[in-house]
Amino acid sequence: MLTAAFTRTQSSRSVAWRAGQRSIATRGATKPSKAKPKPKPQSQQQSQSQPQSQSQSQPQSQSQSQPRPQVGHKRDELQQIPETEKPFTGYFDAVRDIIRMPVTTADPNIPSKRVTAEYCSAHFKQTPRNVSMLTRDFISDSLYNPAYGYFSKQALIFSPKRAYDFGSFRDSADFLGTVGRQYEEMECELDDVRNIPRQLWHTPTELLKPWYGRSVARHIVRQHKADCAARHSDDPLVIYEMGGGNGTLMADILGYVRDEEPAIYARVKYNLIEISAKLARKQLGRQFEGVRIVNKSILEWNERVDEPCFFVAMEVIDNFAHDVVRYDYETGEPVQAFVRVYDDGELEELYEPVADPLIKDYLSARAALPGAAYRSPALPPALYRRLRQQLPLAPNLTRREFIPTQAFQLCRVLRDWFPRHRLVLSDFYQLPDTVPDAVDAPVVQTRFDGNMVPCETYLVQPGWFDIFFPTNFELLKRVYDATCRRDAAGADDRRQSRVCTQREFAQDNAELERTRTRSGENPMLEFYENNKFLLS
Ligand SMILES: C[S@@+](CC[C@H](N)C(=O)[O-])C[C@H]1O[C@@H](n2cnc3c(N)ncnc32)[C@H](O)[C@@H]1O
Repeated sequence: MLTAAFTRTQSSRSVAWRAGQRSIATRGATKPSKAKPKPKPQSQQQSQSQPQSQSQSQPQSQSQSQPRPQVGHKRDELQQIPETEKPFTGYFDAVRDIIRMPVTTADPNIPSKRVTAEYCSAHFKQTPRNVSMLTRDFISDSLYNPAYGYFSKQALIFSPKRAYDFGSFRDSADFLGTVGRQYEEMECELDDVRNIPRQLWHTPTELLKPWYGRSVARHIVRQHKADCAARHSDDPLVIYEMGGGNGTLMADILGYVRDEEPAIYARVKYNLIEISAKLARKQLGRQFEGVRIVNKSILEWNERVDEPCFFVAMEVIDNFAHDVVRYDYETGEPVQAFVRVYDDGELEELYEPVADPLIKDYLSARAALPGAAYRSPALPPALYRRLRQQLPLAPNLTRREFIPTQAFQLCRVLRDWFPRHRLVLSDFYQLPDTVPDAVDAPVVQTRFDGNMVPCETYLVQPGWFDIFFPTNFELLKRVYDATCRRDAAGADDRRQSRVCTQREFAQDNAELERTRTRSGENPMLEFYENNKFLLS
């Protein structure tokens, strides 16, 4: 359900401030960069009309031998419209002069090498050509490649210089106005300095500091005390935070423990696991003793932590790459997608039978979940599929489903390396402007000429676009419980996790009087209403 905060707009801005948006887009000061982002188009429809007899053992192309349509077109429409007269629809209207159909010179006969994101990080300083990779590798590489990935060159986290005095604002709109102005100033500064339009993320940790971090600290301390009482122990409080950004959450959690629980603070151990070297250096600069910073991806973690600990992850898993599967209409069997990068940089999505071990394991784990069987919304009931098969030009594959293979990997890391952890994870469960006609689809967007430009495909030039996903929390909870919350004999243990909304979490843990505006509106409750928590 969309809420007032979710759809709130600022009249002076061309683009709405939305809790689901990572960046407040502003008009004005930026000039078009010389290095323009070029979204690459992708057909939503083409593979659906492939002959049903096509062998599943051969890779299936999304756009073999067909003209590559512009985003937003259906294939049938395109066939009837001469190339020059195609109407342009969709989000790109605003920037149609710069985003055009590329004229491909790709030679599909040049063989492509199968690579992974790790391989690209180690071997390529520029986006590779004549390669193919699984969708999650393509997305991971686009976001995280140290040479050209989006994080290494584009994204920064907005942090107001001082914490806001919420009582001084008339209402939430007044607060938003101030934040928006500061945000715009910072964007302009960055653009002036770098001459490329960089994107600024805003997170609840930063906008609602220190009160957001303190609410997380309160939850952790309460749970820690209850656990110590139940164990009749006096264990120190141990926290692992992944993706610490500017280090603000760490500072606010430790600040709370220092001020409110000095006895616990005396023995607290705080660890940050951060993939970005730049952000890890920033975290080092925060003045807290005893904090350990590990500069690596959590997905490469290999150090066993046997003591009870809290594992904190705020706004990190939305960038965890997903894979794409589609289902054979006739058999219901999934096929996995991979991305082919041609010699001219053109991108194409192709399909093959599921062979990747991680995709296989995720699909098996999901199929074996205890309780009600999970049914993919991408896969219509068998009777419907049979009837549809009788129609002319019936598709042979269902629509796409993005499956959270890296979030599943995180569950395994927690199971294997943090066996006695409690989880505090928060992220988006709903986002506007996701890639259409797909299940659990991401938002793909970039900042151009002061505006956020969302795309209708993830097949975009690597490094220029943020790609982030809403999390299906109810499904993640089931997968997490099945992976991490079993005892040695495989039975469910009693410490099952729970999901709650940002509002519910704040009502339980936040010092709400500190974030109330004069009208009574409270950003801690009303903003980020599209966020949920997974707590164990
Ligand atoms: C959107 S920022 C959120 C920062 C902070 N948690 C906050 O709420 O302000 C995402 C953070 O996660 C980090 N990150 C992303 N993927 C990661 C991974 N696989 N392992 C560790 N850190 C990661 C990013 O570098 C960044 O610091």
